[in-house]
Amino acid sequence: MEIVAKDCLAPRIVRLVVKAPRIAAKAQPGHFVVVRLNDRAERIPLTIADFDRAAGTITLIIQEVGKSTAMINAMEPGQSFADVLGPLGTPYPIEKVGTVVGVAGGLGAAPLYPKVKALYEAGNRVIVILGAQRRELLILMEELRAVSHELIVATDDGSYGEHGLVTVPLRRVLEREKVDEVIAIGPVPMMDACCRITRELNVKTVVSLNAVMVDGTGMCGGCRVTVGGQSKFCCVDGPAFDGLQVDFAELRQRQRYYNAQEREAYQAHQHGMEGCRCRAK
Ligand SMILES: Cc1cc2nc3c(=O)[nH]c(=O)nc-3n(C[C@H](O)[C@H](O)[C@H](O)COP(=O)(O)OP(=O)(O)OC[C@H]3O[C@@H](n4cnc5c(N)ncnc54)[C@H](O)[C@@H]3O)c2cc1C
Ligand code: FES
Repeated sequence: MEIVAKDCLAPRIVRLVVKAPRIAAKAQPGHFVVVRLNDRAERIPLTIADFDRAAGTITLIIQEVGKSTAMINAMEPGQSFADVLGPLGTPYPIEKVGTVVGVAGGLGAAPLYPKVKALYEAGNRVIVILGAQRRELLILMEELRAVSHELIVATDDGSYGEHGLVTVPLRRVLEREKVDEVIAIGPVPMMDACCRITRELNVKTVVSLNAVMVDGTGMCGGCRVTVGGQSKFCCVDGPAFDGLQVDFAELRQRQRYYNAQEREAYQAHQHGMEGCRCRAK
């Protein structure tokens, strides 16, 4: 699966357009793929951030957080993945529900984008709240602006838009007007914080969980999450779930399982390569 285009969206965040006509033909908002760089590489789940059926391409947005993402982000157009498996997961239902608020924390803008784009095209009123730690880490701002009726931007350090966490404008919007659905995607603490507000105000909320995945097909059990007291597999039952029912404490604990090994692999890898040019920013 060949990379046909690459650009750097922010330090350590790369957008790749990949030739994958059979996946592009079936992709829906909410789907993801599992990629392998070569036949000895780890399997990495990545959201299909966009797709172009006519061109036969899918768009991936990858943040370098460890060895495998560093290797992927160092790839250039003309190079190929050994394999790209997908589309995987349960697509996000696109219906006309009324007013939808999409909340993106950091890289969460990537999985949020195809959902709000489809909801906007389906005739919903769409409000997007985009948050990041600082201005240079805001991604897909213009793309999200084009598919929303209102875009609110917030940065933790106040370097762009409102000063503070995305939860502040979220509460303001929910207290200002009737909202039929909230979609919150980003780091687990951010999704948890959004759900605490929407639970209090009784607003339907969907989150997209980034549990640790291995096979991506429901066989290994690695991505188990508890939703409404029931065990679910993020890869086949999700990754989107009813946020008001998710056991976030358990999810946080499970995500920490491999921290030490991942840190070790990343450090060893950094001694051996220069990496993607985005890292220099
Ligand atoms: C469905 C899904 C698919 C994913 N797909 C990909 C993918 O394709 N590629 C990839 O590389 N990764 C993917 N991820 C990983 C994930 O998006 C990132 O690890 C995550 O967004 C971290 O971003 P960050 O480091 O910028 O977070 P941070 O910078 O820590 O936070 C970003 C923003 O979130 C808000 N926030 C953070 N904490 C809180 C809090 N406690 N309360 C309120 N607001 C808070 C703030 O506004 C903050 O600025 C996916 C995740 C999900 C959920
Ligand atoms: S990744 Fe193996 S069961 Fe979901």
